[in-house]
Amino acid sequence: MTKPYKLSALSGKVIAIDGPAGSGKSTTAKLLALRMGYVYLDTGAMYRAITLYALRNNVALNDAQVLTDAANKILIRFQAESSGNKVYLNDEDVTLAIRSQEVTASVSEVSAHPGVREAMVRQQRQIAKSGNIVAEGRDTTSVVFPKADIKIYLDASLKERARRRLLDFVRMNVDSSLDEQIHELTHRDAFDSNRKHSPLAKTGDSIVIDTTNLSVEEQVERIIKLVKTRFMQV
Ligand code: DC
Repeated sequence: MTKPYKLSALSGKVIAIDGPAGSGKSTTAKLLALRMGYVYLDTGAMYRAITLYALRNNVALNDAQVLTDAANKILIRFQAESSGNKVYLNDEDVTLAIRSQEVTASVSEVSAHPGVREAMVRQQRQIAKSGNIVAEGRDTTSVVFPKADIKIYLDASLKERARRRLLDFVRMNVDSSLDEQIHELTHRDAFDSNRKHSPLAKTGDSIVIDTTNLSVEEQVERIIKLVKTRFMQV
């Protein structure tokens, strides 16, 4: 079982953002962290890194024991760069490798194992000890940081989310189509929302922002406004 979370264990403020794939979490969290001088914690990148490890080492995606052991011994770290976070799996830079279609198609299954999640949550809370953070993922508002200072749930229509994902692939020179992205997102949404352990969920105290018709700038502005109101009241 994941140990209970103690707010006193953190030295700084936590802004937690959850939502389905393509809802704008990463772009928003990255920019928000940059504007506020906070550390950006991309929890999805950590599950992707474990998945990459599994694929490279021919570990079956349903082998909970081997994946849990791997998650407990692997070190994932982030290095902030002006272009965004670099992701390291042990000492290797895997920033690009974790975005491949193969990893994307397998990550939901790997991230559903309770042992993998417990190991990742431990590392995520450890990272948060270093200061103020903007964390994003599926369970940052519910499980990882249930006492976060601000909780946001980002959402957008399936079509818009698929369009954004397709743009990401086009930028990476990967062939895909809107239909393929709609299919992939539908599958991943179902898996991430229906799994038994820490599913994607909207907590009662999360503020919902629908980003379907918002620019990144507008999304960030909305959260900054919220931060100013909340943090100035404290
Ligand atoms: O945000 P992303 O697409 O990089 O996330 C990749 C996968 O990792 C996603 O399909 C579900 C999983 N994930 C998770 O289970 N919990 C998190 N906190 C973040 C991501």
